[in-house]
Amino acid sequence: MPRIGLLTSGGDCQALNATMRGIVKTIYNKCHEPVEFYGFEDGYQGLIYGRYRQMTAKDFSGILTRGGTILGTSRTPFKYLDQPEADGVEKVPAMIKTYKKLKLDCLFVLGGNGSLKTANRLSQEGLHVIGLPKTIDNDTWGTDMTFGFTSAVEVATQCIDDIHTTASSHGRVFVIEIMGHKVGWIPLYAGIAGGADVILIPEIPYDMKNIIKTIDRRMETGSRFTILAVAEGAISKEDAKLSKKEYKKKVAARTSPSIVYDIAKEIEAKTGRETRVAIPGHTQRGGAPDAQDRIFATQCGVEAALGCLKGEYGYMIAQIEDKMTRVPLADIAGKLKYVDPKSDLVREARALGISFGDE
Ligand code: F6P
Repeated sequence: MPRIGLLTSGGDCQALNATMRGIVKTIYNKCHEPVEFYGFEDGYQGLIYGRYRQMTAKDFSGILTRGGTILGTSRTPFKYLDQPEADGVEKVPAMIKTYKKLKLDCLFVLGGNGSLKTANRLSQEGLHVIGLPKTIDNDTWGTDMTFGFTSAVEVATQCIDDIHTTASSHGRVFVIEIMGHKVGWIPLYAGIAGGADVILIPEIPYDMKNIIKTIDRRMETGSRFTILAVAEGAISKEDAKLSKKEYKKKVAARTSPSIVYDIAKEIEAKTGRETRVAIPGHTQRGGAPDAQDRIFATQCGVEAALGCLKGEYGYMIAQIEDKMTRVPLADIAGKLKYVDPKSDLVREARALGISFGDE
C-alpha cells in the first residue's frame, strides 16, 4: 500500500490547501490500490518530532478555496540545518528517522526557497522528495510562477485601489509597503494593476530626489495626490553601494519598523505635503486564493502526483513559458529569482509614466 507524506513549510499563502487537494485527489483517482496519507504538522517540525496525522483523501476535500494550510506551518529548520534544535535533537537524522519509520514512498514538500533547500538535502540523503513552488513572493528560481503570488497581488492591488480615494480626498502622498521579501514581484505587479505613480523595488535602487521630482511634477500638472508602491526590501542607490554587512548594520539600527516610514518622513520634510503610510501586511497572505492561483496550485498538485505515481523524485514542479515542467531540486537550492529591470513590464510601466525612482 503506497504511503505518502505531505508538509507545508515556511510562510503560508492562499493556495497551499488547493495544492494538497490536487496532489491527493490525483493519487486517489489514479492509484489502483489504497493509499495511506500522512500530514506532518507545522512543516518540518512535524517531520523532526514525528508529529503527524494519518489522513484520508476525504480530509483534503472541500479545501480548494480555503486559505492558509490545514496542516499548519513553521519556518524550521531552513538555516543551520546541521545545528541541533534547542533541545539537542539533530534535525536531518530526525527527519530521516520519521520518514523511514513511517515507510514513506514519497514526501511532498510545499515550500519556498528555504524549504526547498531542505527538501534538496533530504533528497540527497536518499529520501523520495517532490517539491512544489509555494510563495507569495514569486522569487523561486526555476519557475516563472509560484502559487500564492497572484492572490497576494490581488490583495495588494485592492489596497492601492482603496488608498486612491482617501489620498485624493485629502491631497496626500501615500507610501504603501508591499511584501516580497528581497524581490519586487508583488509591488511591480500590484503597482501597475493599482495605478501607482511610483514603484520602488529592490532590483532598481532609488534616489529620493527623483521621487520628489515625480511628486512635484504631479502637483504642478494638477494631480492632488501621489501613491508609492514600495517593496519591503526597497533600497536607495546610496545604500545599494554599501557592503552586505554595512547594510545589515544600517537596517538593524533603523528606529522605524520599516523603510516606508523613513521614506514618508523624508517626502513630507522635502515637499511639505502631508504624507501617510499604509501597510496591508499579512493580509497579502490571507484569505481565499484567487482563480488563477487555484488553477496553478491544482496543476502543480496534479503534476507532482503523476510524477510520484511513476516513481520519479528529486525535483520541484515548475512552470516555464506556460508549460508545466520539473527542475531538479539541486538546481534551485540557494538561488533567488529577481525582477529583470530591463523586462518588458518595467519598460512598459516606465512608458506609462510610472517612476522607479532611479531616474
Ligand atoms: O515569504 C513570504 C513573506 O510574506 C514575505 O513577503 C515577508 O517578508 C515574510 O514572509 C514575512 O514573514 P513572517 O510571516 O515570518 O513575518
